[in-house]
Amino acid sequence: MAVNKLATGRDKAGEKATLQLSKDIKGEGIMSEEKKLTGEVFYPSEAVITRAHAKNWEEICEEAEEDLEGFWAKEANELHWFKKWDKVLDDSQKPFYKWFTGAKTNIVYNCLDRHTQTYRRNKLALIWEGENGEFRSFSYFALRRDTCRFASILKSLGVQKGDRVTIYMGRIPELVIAMLACARIGAIHSVVYGGFSVEALHERLEDSQSKVLVVADGSYQRGKIVHLKQIADEALQRAATVESVLVVKRTGEEVNMEAGRDMWYHELMNLPIAGTTCHIEVMDAEDPLFILYTSGTTGKPKAILHTHGGYMVGVYSTLKYVFDVHEEDRYWCSADPGWITGHSYIVYGPLLNGTTSFMYEGAPTHPFPNRWWQMIEKYGINLLYTAPTAIRGLMRYGEAWPNRYDLSSLRILGSVGEPINPEAWKWYYRVIGKERCPIMDTWWQTETGMFMITPVPTMPLKPGSGTRPFAGLKMDVVNEGGEPVGPNEEGYLVIKNPWPAMIRTIYKDPGRYVEQYWSRFPGMYMTGDSARKDEDGYFWVIGRVDDVIKVSGYRLGTAEIESALVSHPAVAEAAAIGLPHEVKGNAIYSYVMLKSGFEKSDQLAEELRQHVGHEMGPIAKPEKVEFVDSLPKTRSGKIMRRVLKAKALGQDPGNISTLEE
Ligand code: WTA
Repeated sequence: MAVNKLATGRDKAGEKATLQLSKDIKGEGIMSEEKKLTGEVFYPSEAVITRAHAKNWEEICEEAEEDLEGFWAKEANELHWFKKWDKVLDDSQKPFYKWFTGAKTNIVYNCLDRHTQTYRRNKLALIWEGENGEFRSFSYFALRRDTCRFASILKSLGVQKGDRVTIYMGRIPELVIAMLACARIGAIHSVVYGGFSVEALHERLEDSQSKVLVVADGSYQRGKIVHLKQIADEALQRAATVESVLVVKRTGEEVNMEAGRDMWYHELMNLPIAGTTCHIEVMDAEDPLFILYTSGTTGKPKAILHTHGGYMVGVYSTLKYVFDVHEEDRYWCSADPGWITGHSYIVYGPLLNGTTSFMYEGAPTHPFPNRWWQMIEKYGINLLYTAPTAIRGLMRYGEAWPNRYDLSSLRILGSVGEPINPEAWKWYYRVIGKERCPIMDTWWQTETGMFMITPVPTMPLKPGSGTRPFAGLKMDVVNEGGEPVGPNEEGYLVIKNPWPAMIRTIYKDPGRYVEQYWSRFPGMYMTGDSARKDEDGYFWVIGRVDDVIKVSGYRLGTAEIESALVSHPAVAEAAAIGLPHEVKGNAIYSYVMLKSGFEKSDQLAEELRQHVGHEMGPIAKPEKVEFVDSLPKTRSGKIMRRVLKAKALGQDPGNISTLEE
């Protein structure tokens, strides 16, 4: 490949970089002359390129463009199927696309059983370190065994194919085991992030109509205990469908165990019914694997539904090419399994690839800001996937912390969750990756299931750009009318063709699925992000254009924060917006109108912050609560958050002709 010849290491800042491409970077036909890449460009090293799965990426993309189904069939053929598909893509009922129709599989078979039949049986699947320094590890054999045992327990409690099971824990191995156990027997898991609180959990239990809740007694965060079981008890008082609560002992604190409903995980796992040879449910490729709630433009969080077949192929293939996973690698994704990044790239992707994954329970800076670097050295991590907010947070403590450790095992770095500012990118590249490790800035969403705009390690990189869409994907930036905009013009980021790990529907609400994603621009999936595409065809994602706020990479909806505020007896109306924040990316600011009879005070503002923390979770706590006498609204009564934001930033609010007063 042409890139090889020119792989010269780091390019000088500001200089025009040159690159011989066999194909126009925009995918518009063969180009033989030299293509100049604009801006600051970083090239992969020869060492990275020679062993990369994506060595011939240009050709792979070309082939996928010509034969989309052929590309995905080839990827799917690397996995096990009880029965192969009749059709790779069925688009007869757009936008309800189906993948690998007629095929039979189970994602867990490919995550565990496929490996335990080979030399990988004794390979480590999962290495775990607790915030308090505890250590545990699981071979593929052990992870399969414990998954089977827990699956047997779920079955004996009456959980059947299609039933929903909610999982609410910190980052501990039992969370992974519970997810895999559900999938093994065909139950649909719904993981609720352990940083969420009472109302967020209640809403998700209620909407999913879960029969079983798997919860931990508590979790460790920055040396403190989060009382998960206690929060769950409160949520359960508001939710009626849960019949059994299975409690994992993590902190050993005293918890309330309700007779007839609550049972200890460790006691159940030692019962004879916890068989180690639990039968695996043969699933249709299109059968649901999980639902995961995420915030949208309006109202309640929606349950995004993913399936066994297409999702499996998508996450397997993307992780393989993008993080260039090899047999001897140790991979660490620092996300939480409670979010899509954890589902796809802590649990399913690494196991599908048969790799060794590391998982860490706690905060990056606990007890000191050396924690991450120390663990990279200690466990010999090769592939590191994290978020810009974590990088910025660690950057603040200076280079001396990472420089004290041997980080030479690192080969590839990754970033996800929000745009990475070039300053953080360069720090990550220079201080952590020692200018050897390419940074995979992956853009994707809960709904897309897998990486969408992403480099592969063989590509020239520009700090702050996720480069180009993954093989086979057609993505674009369009204007209000749905037409492509010119180079470097800002517009709506859309996806123009289907991909295997795509959202199938919003659980129980197919109408909302169509309306939310496919109605704004006919025939195109609307991402909700704004972006621009530069003259080289590189995408630069700018941020959300809707009422979603990314706080430290976590996806929250203004509507949920506002409804948490309004559930306090003193609040009449509330509005929430995101304002730029140096470390968190965005911080939540809220504006509150009080009911008559309540007095504005600092104490009440603090009480409201705590109330949001209690209902939604600490991540949703507003940075600031400001009391106002009125909120800017349209004549139809919609709060104009745009006006609040402009005012807070001292900017011109733009068109306010629809403002009521
Ligand atoms: C944002 C997280 C810029 C984006 C996997 C998207 C990003 C939302 C990036 C989805 C990135 C994610 N660069 N922005 N590399 N990755 N985003 O569903 O706004 O929690 O729409 O999925 O995160 O958030 P979600």
